[in-house]
Amino acid sequence: MSALEDPSLVLRQRFEAAIAAAFPQLPGPVDPVITASRQPQFGDFQSNAAMALAKQLGLKPRDVAAAIVAKLDLAGIAEPLTEKSIAGPGFINISLRGDALAAGVTALDAAGTADDLGVARTSSPQTVVVDLCGVNLAKQMHVGHLRSTVIPDAIARAFERLGHKVIRQSHVGDWGLPIAMVTGKLKGELDAGRVTPATLTLDALEQLYRAAQAECERDLKGLEAVRRYGLGPKLEAEVQAQVDTATEAFNRAREVLLKLQSHDPDTVAVWKLIYDITMRACLETCSRLHANITADHTAGESSYAEELGGVVKDLLDRGVAAIDQGAVVVRVQGLEVPCLVRKSDGGYLYATTDLAAIRRRVQKFGASRVIYGVDIRQSLHFQQVFGAAIKAGYADVPGDGVARLEHAAFGTVLGADGKPFKTRSGENVKLADLLDEAVQRARKVVDDRSASLAEADRARIAEAVGIAAIKYMDLSTERSKDYVFDFDRMLAFEGNTGPYLLYALVRTRSIFRKAAEEGRDGGWRGAVISITEPAEKSLALALLRYGKVVESVAETLEPHRLCQYLIELSTAFSAFFDQCKVIWAPDDATRRSRLRLCDITGRVLADGLKTLGIPTVERM
Ligand code: ARG
Repeated sequence: MSALEDPSLVLRQRFEAAIAAAFPQLPGPVDPVITASRQPQFGDFQSNAAMALAKQLGLKPRDVAAAIVAKLDLAGIAEPLTEKSIAGPGFINISLRGDALAAGVTALDAAGTADDLGVARTSSPQTVVVDLCGVNLAKQMHVGHLRSTVIPDAIARAFERLGHKVIRQSHVGDWGLPIAMVTGKLKGELDAGRVTPATLTLDALEQLYRAAQAECERDLKGLEAVRRYGLGPKLEAEVQAQVDTATEAFNRAREVLLKLQSHDPDTVAVWKLIYDITMRACLETCSRLHANITADHTAGESSYAEELGGVVKDLLDRGVAAIDQGAVVVRVQGLEVPCLVRKSDGGYLYATTDLAAIRRRVQKFGASRVIYGVDIRQSLHFQQVFGAAIKAGYADVPGDGVARLEHAAFGTVLGADGKPFKTRSGENVKLADLLDEAVQRARKVVDDRSASLAEADRARIAEAVGIAAIKYMDLSTERSKDYVFDFDRMLAFEGNTGPYLLYALVRTRSIFRKAAEEGRDGGWRGAVISITEPAEKSLALALLRYGKVVESVAETLEPHRLCQYLIELSTAFSAFFDQCKVIWAPDDATRRSRLRLCDITGRVLADGLKTLGIPTVERM
């Protein structure tokens, strides 16, 4: 008997063949519309194709269903079909055979080999670049970076799980005029002895950043208003002075940028100090988040600085770009706003750097897919950049078409008021503070629930539960949607939460400790699996879907699909655990089979959580 991979896919193929055989007059393959059965007493799956086909063919739906059933070959997979398999207006109900499911589950557990669990490693590995994190110098990571870190990291993990080569790239905002502003500002503070490198914190840097920006902000509107409404020479002189000072500050920042660009050692040293302080804090937060992002994955905007002139020249030389009122633009088909690559004052832009990045990623790294886990509010930017890159040929994979450039856009994290999540005073919420609070709150829950565990264990568990709660909440929301940040909801042990999944995993493990205590833990490794009870059937069906779910995450770039799946698997496990005795199963063979099911379930849960980048615990 053939092992059932994902039964719904096997059924789909068999139904497609039956429909084609029953109605050869149909032009092409027909979707058999296989869904999980709504009434499990009639079967596990149903095909709903007969009704639409009947309309198309001018026949009675039940006759169409009967014709399909006559051609259907489900030997070894499903219980034999009878008249009763056709229900209502023409649904075809399918009950899978327990032995087919058991064979499928046994195949998941390819013991001794790589821990495969139904995830098929690709036979044609691709190089996939995943753009993630992307913090900015002299700024704390805020709540938005939660999303730009955990979502693309989970996407990267799915590709890795499938055997692709992933290159993570954190496109750090570490170059350009704003960075020159804060560099100049910090240099002044250092020179004046008001700041020492050894004690400089990221908070202090962020303040300097804001101060530098404010100093360069010219109140041109104010000046215009004063003049237009004739508000008097005194006021005009005051505003004029502000504008002059700001212009001076602005010009100084441009000088600093020139110095950075020409590698002036003193200026670069100050920049490097800002870089190091920012990146140390950033990488620490990434590590606490269990996101696989290290210094090796960091390729900031500064790493492209030397290439920008060449990019613009290349675009102009080949007629890809045009000069428009002194600026250089690439017009992109279908977009009203062209992609600006050099300002009329000669400055380069965010888009110029991203073009250089695509060129490097595809031409040098050999990426055939480049995926950007970036805020949805940057959609236009990526449309422009992708369009320009394709037009320029930067996305051409040598001898293999054009690389897929994809914006895995995510929505905004909202506060309880439904507006973007901010502190009471309207500031961005620091990500590190949120992690601290999640862990503190988790600690209270863990102290309550697991009072008997040692202090160090409770601390470790609370850390994992807090991080899992935050990450799961973020990952489980459909990527492009906004969601409301809510500590109480994310930390609940019931429902669609990270702690619920960790708890389900712990349950699959603790059963083995209990079985050992009772001396009933032997013989389950490699035991014959039998699937007879409805709850066993549901669990097996859930287990068999895992591989395709991981594939769907890589295809759609939507980690929430895996989140949802793991909840469904946990729920199926929970029902199995309630309805089927494991340690005290009616006979030894059943006990072994069920223990082995617990083990496989635990491994799929652990593997799924790892693929999402969610930390787990052994007990709680
Ligand atoms: N630093 C950017 C920001 O804060 C994010 C970078 C995203 N990646 C990219 N290749 N543009 O908005």
